[in-house]
Amino acid sequence: MTDNKLSRDSNAKVVYNKCNQRVHHLHILNNIKLVTNHGAGASRLIYANPCKQVSHLRYAREAGVSLITFDHESELDKIKDWYPDARLVLRIRYDDEEALHVLGQKYGVAPQHARSLLIRAAKLGLNVVGVAFHVGSGCEKPQIFGDAIAAARQVFDEAAEEGFSPYVLDIGGGFPATNNALMVEMAYSINDAINKYFPNNDVQIIAEPGRYLVSTAFTLATTILSREEETGGGENGEQSRIVYCTNDSVHVSFTMSLIVGKFSTPIALMGGSERMMLSDVRGQTLSNEDILASGVNLPLLHPGDWLVWHNMGAYTLCMASSFNSFLRPEVFVVSSFDACVENFALGKY
Ligand SMILES: Cc1ncc(COP(=O)(O)O)c(C=O)c1O
Repeated sequence: MTDNKLSRDSNAKVVYNKCNQRVHHLHILNNIKLVTNHGAGASRLIYANPCKQVSHLRYAREAGVSLITFDHESELDKIKDWYPDARLVLRIRYDDEEALHVLGQKYGVAPQHARSLLIRAAKLGLNVVGVAFHVGSGCEKPQIFGDAIAAARQVFDEAAEEGFSPYVLDIGGGFPATNNALMVEMAYSINDAINKYFPNNDVQIIAEPGRYLVSTAFTLATTILSREEETGGGENGEQSRIVYCTNDSVHVSFTMSLIVGKFSTPIALMGGSERMMLSDVRGQTLSNEDILASGVNLPLLHPGDWLVWHNMGAYTLCMASSFNSFLRPEVFVVSSFDACVENFALGKY
C-alpha cells in the first residue's frame, strides 16, 4: 500500500482464494493449511464465507480459526451446534450498485435487519465480535466505503445494546487493481470515516483485498488459431472486422467476463500490419458466447501470432473449467534478475 494511507491497523488476515497460484484455488481446508503453513497464526485468520459447510466449520474449529462471518439465522443455528465458541462477525449488505461484480444479492443482511440477528445470536449464547461488509468487487465509488463504515457503526451500537462487545470492523474488498488514484481516494474515504465513527482506536480493522493484490501479478499470452474477415455494410450498417479465434475461453481464464458481461482488451505481442484493424477475439470452445474481446484495435495478425492480456491474476484460473476438454494455461514464474541471484545464493534452486 503506497504512502501508508490505509495504515491505521491491520491485525487479521483473509485466506485468499482469488488468485491464480496453482495451489491456492483448492478447498477451504487446504486454504487454511496453506496459509498457516506460511506462518500466519490461525487466530489471525477470518473465515469470511457467511454460508459454511458443517465439515468446514468443524475443520476451522480444529485449526483454531475462530473468527467467522454470518448473515442469516440458520447459519447461527449451525454455528451453535458446531462451533459455539466462535467469534462471530455479522456481514451487512452495503452495495455499490455499479460495481463490476455486486455481491450483495447473495450475502449480507440489510443493516435495518441486523438487530434481529443480533437478538437471535444473544439468545443462542453466541459471541458477536464485529461487523463486516463488502461493497462489491471492482468498486469505483470511494464514498461508498465511508457510508458503509457509518452503517457498520450503527450495527456496532446495536450489538452493544444487545450485550455484545464488538471490536472487529471488516471493510471487505472491492479495491481497484490498477487505478492508484482511485485507491488513494478510497483510502481517504475509509480513514476519514474510521476517524469519525471509530475514533477511539479500540477496534481491529481488517480489509480483504483480493483483486487489488493479485490482478497485476499475472499476464496471459494466447496464440491465434485462425482468422477470418466479417464484411460489414449489412442492414445494420456494421463495419467490417477481423475475427480471430485464440486458445483460451470464457470457460477457462475469462469466466469473469462472462459473469460481469465485460470484454477484455488484448495487445499484439509483436508483428502484424502497421495499420490497426477493428477486431473481435473469440475463444476456442464450441459455445456461442465464447467472445473474449469485441471491437478492439489490433494489427492484422496471423495464426501462430501471440496476444497478450494484462492483469489476469484475479478471478481467472481459479474459476476455469475443463469444458470441451481444453487445458488451463500453464503458469510460468518470471522473476527479476536480482531475485534470482538472491534465491540462488540462498540455495533455493
Ligand atoms: C468475502 C470476500 N472478501 C473479499 C473478497 C475480495 O474482493 P475483491 O477481489 O473485490 O477485493 C471477496 C470476493 O468475492 C469476498 O467474497
